[in-house]
Amino acid sequence: MNNEFKKVLYGGDYNPEQWTHEIWQDDMRLLKNANIDTATINVFSWAKLQPNEETYDFSGLDAIVEMLTREKFNIIMATSTAAIPAWMAKRYPEVMRAGNNGVRKKFGERHNFCPNSAVYKKYSVLLANKIAERYKNNKNIICWHICNEYGGTCYCDNCEKEFRIWLKNKYKNINAVNEAWNTSFWSHTIYDWDEIVVPNILGDGGWYRPYFAGLYLDYQRFNSESMLNCFKAERDAVKKHIPNALVTTNLMGPYKPLDYFKWAQEMDIVSWDNYPDRNTEWGYVAFTHDLMRGLKGKPFMLMEQTPSQQNWQKYCTLKQPGQMSAQSYQTIAHGADSVLFFQLRRSKGGCEKFHGAVISHSGSDKTRVYNEVKELGAQLNTIGNKIVGAKTVSEVALIFDWENYWAVESTMGPNADLRYVEELYLYYKQFYKRNISVDIISDTTDFSKYKVVAAPVLYMVKQGVSDALERYVKNGGILITGYMSGIVNESDNVYLGGYPGPLRKLAGVWVEEIDALAPDQSNTVRLKSGNEYKCGFLCDVIHSEEAETIAEYTSNFYSRLPAVTKNKFGKGYVYYFGTKPEAECMNEIFGEILSSGKISSVLDENTELEVDVREKDGNKYFFIMNFSGMEKPLPQQFIGSINIINGEKSPEVLKPFETVVVEK
Ligand code: GLA
Ligand code: ZN
Repeated sequence: MNNEFKKVLYGGDYNPEQWTHEIWQDDMRLLKNANIDTATINVFSWAKLQPNEETYDFSGLDAIVEMLTREKFNIIMATSTAAIPAWMAKRYPEVMRAGNNGVRKKFGERHNFCPNSAVYKKYSVLLANKIAERYKNNKNIICWHICNEYGGTCYCDNCEKEFRIWLKNKYKNINAVNEAWNTSFWSHTIYDWDEIVVPNILGDGGWYRPYFAGLYLDYQRFNSESMLNCFKAERDAVKKHIPNALVTTNLMGPYKPLDYFKWAQEMDIVSWDNYPDRNTEWGYVAFTHDLMRGLKGKPFMLMEQTPSQQNWQKYCTLKQPGQMSAQSYQTIAHGADSVLFFQLRRSKGGCEKFHGAVISHSGSDKTRVYNEVKELGAQLNTIGNKIVGAKTVSEVALIFDWENYWAVESTMGPNADLRYVEELYLYYKQFYKRNISVDIISDTTDFSKYKVVAAPVLYMVKQGVSDALERYVKNGGILITGYMSGIVNESDNVYLGGYPGPLRKLAGVWVEEIDALAPDQSNTVRLKSGNEYKCGFLCDVIHSEEAETIAEYTSNFYSRLPAVTKNKFGKGYVYYFGTKPEAECMNEIFGEILSSGKISSVLDENTELEVDVREKDGNKYFFIMNFSGMEKPLPQQFIGSINIINGEKSPEVLKPFETVVVEK
């Protein structure tokens, strides 16, 4: 199956099992009238599809597939394996997950299976098999959606046994485990594989952070891989019947427990669910989309967003008029080829009855939300096939690595407030607000096509990574890194000989100590320009070995020592931020880095609008969006051009949330 859709897919999750056939019929009319062309079905139907261990009943699914097909909808077919049926939990308690306290759950909730349960594996794969076999000839099914939002961690006895096997495969002998986890600390030497226990609160789960990060990291790897094996098994079941099926599962942005770079390799297309909170910065939303695009370096699908409000946030604020549309365009601008909602019809019971939907409890086509959905649908029809499959081209890359994420946030000290994603976003923002396109990449990506690679808090430096970075900078690349980088290896053991370990030569600095400042403490940095700015959070006590000082501290015993440095290495440069300066200081330094590196924005003009570009068949599509909350002038270069979302001349002033898409 070709993953280039005919147009941006438009629709979302539909849960017909919650409704009567009369309502389905009415929904078909309402959805078509709203320019919706795609329905994701069968996400949570296991209990109806398999009422008991011996019986399968596809009559309900047959009926809705038949209706959607007749009505010419695209179908995204899910496999229904994200919520265990009651009979299975009762007959096979071991299918259920055990939490951090080690207690196995009873029937209830969803995303509740143990990924290492043989019974879960058997029946989930069997179900995926049966569904794929049954609907393999249906041409309206354009995508297969395995399970739903894989996530969480299981600490049950199945998992403990499997973990020991996983460790045996990885380390071969027990001494290697002792070495990796540095078990000489606290008398933890292990003599037999059976002595190894899962790192939850009954074991080395720790206090606010795990006691043995090496063990914790291996368990994270194991858990992510265990879940991925569930995905792969169902995917293979689908592909057995439909070899060219387009298979995905819905991811969740920078979701911590699963190593999505590994997952993406197993998926035909990345899809994800975007649920920003009322306070989430638009730049952060852009960051999450870029991360999802970066997983495969390809366009992705937006599998879910709400057309209006969520139900699970503390304050489920309504989206303002125009906001859903602007959010959708931002999603497409960053690489999405679908705009799909959760959900098409609002449930009448259960905890999601207040979740936004295209069709509200009123069932009316007169609602604001329905009509905004309809209008966006009409625009996507007007755009047609222009944007689908279009690429994003970036000169800047930001390294994101899940193992590093786990490691940074599992280490006790020096600063408990350190949050991996926040740190990366701090750097991303510098590019975002200048409308500089960023690719978010793994630490194994080829860096050579980028002018700048930013690698903040590159705490864990895996084998080969420092060599690759050295080659990159030597050949003229610019690397930006800083505090808490170059500290540990894959097992969270420190590189001895002085921080930042394998990055020391590159950065041309030796970090002797790392000071952590509480929120009420600060230091000041002085730049060459004479400007002084506050800094804090972490302050590396830096001795320059080769590097030039960009900023120095002005107080504490390390006053006059470098705080930010620049090192020429081969044909390139390495910038090292030893502290977190206030935003204006980052602005000043980044301004310098970007102009000296000749890094270009997608347009020449300064604007407070967000502008992104996708490219296809020699054309550039500029997405110009107004998230500023105020009216803003359209940049000069677009004045007079046609807005391809409606075929009209672009307005010269954009209202809040207004979008213009221009083809050049
Ligand atoms: C997730 C799930 C959906 C639904 C929405 C609600 O993304 O995949 O089933 O629960 O959240 O926001
Ligand atoms: Zn388990």
